[in-house]
Amino acid sequence: MANVATLFGTLWPANRKRFRLLVLAFFVLLSSTLLFFRDYSPFQEWNSSLNHHLAQPRPSNEDLPAPLISTFTVTAPPHVQTQAVTVTVPDPVVFSLIMWSHNSAVEGALLIKTILMYTSSPTEFHIICDQEARDFLQGRLALLTSPLYPVKVRFYQPTLQSMMDRVNREGSLRSDHDSGIPGLMKLFIHEILPSSIKKSIYVDTDAIFISDPTLLWNVPLKPTTAVSMSYHPDENSPMWHNASKICSCVMLLNLEMLRQVRLMDSNSYHVVKDDSYPSALSPPAFRAMYGEPDQNGYLNVKLGDQGYWWAIVENRPDIFEPLSFDFEVTSCLMDTYSTGLGDDGRSEDDELPRQSHTKGTQQEGILIRPKLLHFNCLYGVDVYMEWDGWSNPEEYVTKRWGPAVSYHHGYKWIWLNQGVQSRTGRMVDVRTLTNVEFADLQFAREYAIHAS
Ligand SMILES: *[C@@H]1O[C@H](CO)[C@@H](O)[C@H](O)[C@H]1NC(C)=O
Ligand SMILES: *[C@@H]1O[C@H](CO)[C@@H](O)[C@H](O)[C@H]1NC(C)=O
Repeated sequence: MANVATLFGTLWPANRKRFRLLVLAFFVLLSSTLLFFRDYSPFQEWNSSLNHHLAQPRPSNEDLPAPLISTFTVTAPPHVQTQAVTVTVPDPVVFSLIMWSHNSAVEGALLIKTILMYTSSPTEFHIICDQEARDFLQGRLALLTSPLYPVKVRFYQPTLQSMMDRVNREGSLRSDHDSGIPGLMKLFIHEILPSSIKKSIYVDTDAIFISDPTLLWNVPLKPTTAVSMSYHPDENSPMWHNASKICSCVMLLNLEMLRQVRLMDSNSYHVVKDDSYPSALSPPAFRAMYGEPDQNGYLNVKLGDQGYWWAIVENRPDIFEPLSFDFEVTSCLMDTYSTGLGDDGRSEDDELPRQSHTKGTQQEGILIRPKLLHFNCLYGVDVYMEWDGWSNPEEYVTKRWGPAVSYHHGYKWIWLNQGVQSRTGRMVDVRTLTNVEFADLQFAREYAIHAS
């Protein structure tokens, strides 16, 4: 430019200064026009409206008000041939998960990733975890900057001692299972999460979604139902007291009702002599199935928390509803109902008779459309993705689902950043709560304050 100006300046030396100004003005005009066209798009108004909406601060305290249901209408500019669009942001889908140890978080992170891959709703994760698990999860979550829907994560870090103390306050529980004390926390989720969380989906870490989790969230339950999980009345297992007839690995929990019926007992409740509070629901159920506990607790309870859930489900069928097998296609005992990837053109009439392990269940004659895959009973490793069998093409699970595991496992977290980058609001809101107080202690504390 300098050379050109010099050239013209040489030709018209008197006008050199004015000419430079002219050239400058021309470039300013050109670049602002270019900027205008680059940024202009008919959807910009819609976009900014959506951005504005998504940027609204989400309730920040732990006592969330009623679920967020918002509807807003945005109108396209007049020259765009579209109708007004109504965008409804649905309720958040709420998960309560337990991840104790690094390995458990490695599996659980994959579960969370698949939830975010398929969801059409905002998501809340309430994760009961230890420091190792939280460290790993925070690393993955840091990669998530602009998901399609808002994500809220709350880590609850009770100490191992506080969990053991809660189990002891029940008085008769013990665990035979690898998952130990943290695994037993599946019976206490409603006591750890704040009472403002009224419903949640619980999933074990060794599972992945292959469908929108909103479908599971929206499964209609009877008003009397406190818990729903898959139910296999055809599974006879005398050595486990038939506890394998259910799987407490995927549960839709009505937390509000579990609190109302006081699912688990505590000696904190016994000090209060007040008939307006119900006695805990589970002790009669545990006794009916396992007999009187001795000084070490109930005998013969197998499969950890599942043995206790089984006693509850058997004794109180009124608060239980079976869940469609779609939501727990399991590699353990059920051979994933003999369905899997491949032959994508197969008809429903052709698929139904190939389905196995449904005879005598509520799923008999009803097609399973897999929505969640559960990779349990893949023994010999701490992290199921590292199972030797995945490299053996003769393994049935590998034939049916191996590619699904490698696809979801390999899918990069940064690919989840498919949404708008919000300038003001946080699309990913992660916080930790270290002072976890179980509801029975909270009750005792509040009652004491009340009484004094
Ligand atoms: C939409 O909004 C985002 C965030 O403000 C911005 O980065 C993006 O360029 C906008 N897209 C369009 C098409 O205007
Ligand atoms: C287990 O279930 C079978 C029926 O499937 C029943 O006959 C048996 O009595 C049950 N056993 C226990 C311990 O509940």
